[in-house]
Amino acid sequence: MLYVTRRCHFSASHRLYNPEWTDEQNDAVFDKCNNLYGHGHNYVLEVTVAGHPDPETGYVIDLKKLRDIIEKEIVEKVDHKHLNYDVDFLQGIIPTAENIAVVFWNILESKIPSGKLYSVKLFESDNNLVEYFGEPVSIKRFVSNYASAELV
Ligand code: NI
Repeated sequence: MLYVTRRCHFSASHRLYNPEWTDEQNDAVFDKCNNLYGHGHNYVLEVTVAGHPDPETGYVIDLKKLRDIIEKEIVEKVDHKHLNYDVDFLQGIIPTAENIAVVFWNILESKIPSGKLYSVKLFESDNNLVEYFGEPVSIKRFVSNYASAELV
């Protein structure tokens, strides 16, 4: 088994807050990340595909194809956006790196043409990163103007 990784970059803003909590609770938990109008990150996304090299090409996956998939499915939709408001597939989700990584996985998994998606690694900064290997997890999606919520 070999592991092939494509790295890409995007810049986006977000605000971390739980709409079912009071301002005081949000401030206590999310602190500066709860800034009303958000704050920005230069994200680095690494997507790894695992598989065996095709005998005719030597590729586990053509990295140009992987690049194009990530660009089309993810980067074009999140780059220079506010993740709380501008991105359909993140609506209602607290946009932590954890939750974003799970959503990205769910989008990409079925789109990988050869090999299998192995990991989604999302760097929010040089020092903070989240890695997801696809084990089942539940993340909460707030719906109906935050009046109720469901697990996705
Ligand atoms: Ni942040």
